[in-house]
Amino acid sequence: MKLDLPTMKWRALTLLAFVYFQVTLAEEPRLVITPAQPEYTAAVGNPLAFTCKAEVPDPTLITDLKWISPEGLEIGVGDRIFTEDATEDDGDNGDTPRRQLFFSSVQESDSGNYTCRATYTSSQTLSASVKLSTRVPIKWIDVPAEQHATLGEEYKVRCIVNANPAPQVRWLKDGVAISKKTFESQYLPQSDGILIRNVSREDAGIFTCRASVELTGDLSEKKITLKIIVPPKFKNVIEDIESLEDMSARLDCEAEGEPTPTYELFDAKGEPIIGRPGFVINPNTGILVIEEVKRENAGEYKCRALNDGGTIEAVRRLRVITKPTIVSFINATGVENKNITIECIARGDPLPEIVFIKVGSDNTYKTGVNTLDPRVSVEASNDGSGIGGEPDSAVAKLSISSATRSDDGLYKCYAKNSEGTAERTGHITVEFPPKFENTTKKEMWTWSQRPVNLTCRVSSIPNATIYWWSSHYETDIEENDPRIYINSDGESTLLVTPEDDSFYGEYRCLAKNKHGKVKHSIVLKRAHVPQPPTRVIFQTLETVTALTITFEIIGPQDNGGIKLISYAVQFRKQNEEWTDEKPSIEWTIGSPYILKNLESKTDYSFRFSARNSVGISTYGEETYIMAERAAPEKPKIIATPTGDLVHSQYSEKYNLTWTIMPDNGVPINKFQIVYFQDRNSTVGSNWTEAEPSIRKDVGPKNVSFEIKNLKPDTFYKVEIRAHNAIGFSEPTGIIVKTAKGSIETTEQQSMDYFNWSDIGIWEGVIITVAVVFAVAVFAIFVDVILCLTLRTGLFARCYYGAETTPNQTEETETPPMRMSTLQYESEQRETTAMVNGST
Ligand SMILES: *[C@@H]1O[C@H](CO)[C@@H](O)[C@H](O)[C@H]1NC(C)=O
Ligand SMILES: *[C@@H]1O[C@H](CO)[C@@H](O)[C@H](O)[C@H]1NC(C)=O
Ligand SMILES: *[C@@H]1O[C@H](CO)[C@@H](O)[C@H](O)[C@H]1NC(C)=O
Ligand SMILES: *[C@@H]1O[C@H](CO)[C@@H](O)[C@H](O)[C@H]1NC(C)=O
Repeated sequence: MKLDLPTMKWRALTLLAFVYFQVTLAEEPRLVITPAQPEYTAAVGNPLAFTCKAEVPDPTLITDLKWISPEGLEIGVGDRIFTEDATEDDGDNGDTPRRQLFFSSVQESDSGNYTCRATYTSSQTLSASVKLSTRVPIKWIDVPAEQHATLGEEYKVRCIVNANPAPQVRWLKDGVAISKKTFESQYLPQSDGILIRNVSREDAGIFTCRASVELTGDLSEKKITLKIIVPPKFKNVIEDIESLEDMSARLDCEAEGEPTPTYELFDAKGEPIIGRPGFVINPNTGILVIEEVKRENAGEYKCRALNDGGTIEAVRRLRVITKPTIVSFINATGVENKNITIECIARGDPLPEIVFIKVGSDNTYKTGVNTLDPRVSVEASNDGSGIGGEPDSAVAKLSISSATRSDDGLYKCYAKNSEGTAERTGHITVEFPPKFENTTKKEMWTWSQRPVNLTCRVSSIPNATIYWWSSHYETDIEENDPRIYINSDGESTLLVTPEDDSFYGEYRCLAKNKHGKVKHSIVLKRAHVPQPPTRVIFQTLETVTALTITFEIIGPQDNGGIKLISYAVQFRKQNEEWTDEKPSIEWTIGSPYILKNLESKTDYSFRFSARNSVGISTYGEETYIMAERAAPEKPKIIATPTGDLVHSQYSEKYNLTWTIMPDNGVPINKFQIVYFQDRNSTVGSNWTEAEPSIRKDVGPKNVSFEIKNLKPDTFYKVEIRAHNAIGFSEPTGIIVKTAKGSIETTEQQSMDYFNWSDIGIWEGVIITVAVVFAVAVFAIFVDVILCLTLRTGLFARCYYGAETTPNQTEETETPPMRMSTLQYESEQRETTAMVNGST
């Protein structure tokens, strides 16, 4: 239908005129509501007022003008909806009663019929109504201008729009209306947005949400930028990180995503790392650098990467390769014969290997049973509490079963890994009950109130308490007794002064520690004078003139209880008596027992005694040493000048003098002198028996002999030798030259020279005959005397018959400890003394 505007104006005016006439002309009482639509549409949220005016002939007759709500209640004074009297002076007609209905803000729920009512002339009820309907304009409820869709997921581009009457929503993507034709079923419009089933990167762009209300003609649109989000994803495969101690470590947490993720890092305890000194996080890559890694930095780190698309977490495990350190190695104490264990804990990464070394020996103990000493074994285990419950300590236990005292000592725990070594020393103490040392004596000696120390040597761990008991004291003597002295070696010494006999006897030393107790007896004995030596063995050494004897002394069986100080020897010659003045020599024990300057070829008797601190023993049995027996020493010729050739002062004689030399045990009974004319003889040649020579024997006491009847100016060889029962000594000889003689002697000389030996023989015969005769006469005389007095002798035999002849005097010898056999050979000088040892 086409509207003709001038026609409409006209008609309206006609209508208005008609109405006016109706009102004024009819004068019919009524109520009029303005705005004067029977139905009024109000925009929600706006204020609104309706005015109700009474058009009556006499306004004063109007009473009770009021508004009634759609619910039929009178609207009075209120907050949002209220009524007010608005009566005005209208001039000619007087006051026209009016009442206004106010809505301070229209709401959708306000729609409905509102009625204005009044009473006229107290009998006529007037009323008029208006229908209020509400209209809501297009309103954007939830249309974020930028929205993020996660790649690959479902996303609804949100656009919530409100209007009343309900709007129609249409969508555009990058200016192209979304329809089945344009985007197929990719986008699915819904009441609160448009759904993207599987978000792809192409969905990014500008979406337009356009709302329109056909009835009102409202139209509005919003542009939405859709961004595609890629959730974070760690770039690299999760790996454990290893780092050397004190080096830098890098933990890679890098993630990719859109928008670029941000990072948060946490240590093993969950504490954030950001801002920690020495820890640097690159905010763009999420890479953590620990500048100088320490052992305690090892552990699990949590990386968190986040962007709008989400949050991801990963754990990075940092392993710090460390040199071993020994955490604990505690001294162990055990008991002898029991088990002892010492434990060593070492840290390090990789886990160190532990061995034990006994200090001062080459013994190294590795894991397992020791092959050389199966008592010893090492058990290794690992202790948790490292990263993720992994062991972070190596634990090794050295066990010794049935420990001995030698196991006591220092041990080294030695830990090693690829990075280095560590060691620590600890001590194993092996406790044991007290034991007496071997040096502890069983008896002690003293005498005459001399104080003596009784000493007890005890070894034990822990230290033993030592106390003493003795029958002399009534109570135990405790450690703190002044009589007890304890030295630094753990010896306990009891000082005893034996004031009387009761002090001699048994003393007991008692030692006790927590592992046991022991006792040891020491008998205190009285020391006395020793016995003489048991036996003495001789060894003689002849020196030129004196005898030296070395003795070997075998000590006495009883030394008197205390050690000997010296041996003493006393000696005498065979023909002397023992007297106190006899020389005695004392040797300290252990020195060479040598006696010097004894006369050689002399018999001696010796007796020995021993001395200790108490005194000197009696002398033991006497022993003899018998001198060798031999022919005498050769006499010494005294001649001036000494030498082989001697000039006699006389022409016919020479006075030979000599010195008697030792007789070598058997008395000298004569000297024999021989001389003969011999110009050419050399002195010292062998004894010449050859004729012609003159031989003269002289008595043993003689020391000179005059050789007579010599020729003048002639050489003679003169020799002398001594003789005893064993034989002759060696000769001593000289050459004598007689002085030049006078004429008187010449004849005699020649005569002597001619028949020197014959005359000698004749003289000898005469003298012999004379002597034999004299002896025979004397013997007969003596024999007769003997016969008469003692009835002995030859005559007596004739008269009285045979009688035992008295024995010749024989040398009787007490058999000495050393036997001597003397062998005499007639006319030979060799005398052999066979010496047999007395053993
Ligand atoms: C372990 O024993 C050693 C040697 O005996 C000693 O020096 C050290 O003080 C002891 N250590 C402890 C903790 O007792
Ligand atoms: C006993 O021993 C103590 C301590 O060693 C020492 O001083 C004292 O002289 C000794 N006494 C005797 C008689 O040996
Ligand atoms: C054990 O005895 C020794 C030697 O006498 C001594 O050095 C050490 O101090 C003693 N120990 C104790 C715990 O008495
Ligand atoms: C003296 O002795 C030497 C050697 O013994 C000998 O050659 C010499 O003939 C001797 N002379 C006389 C006179 O006997």
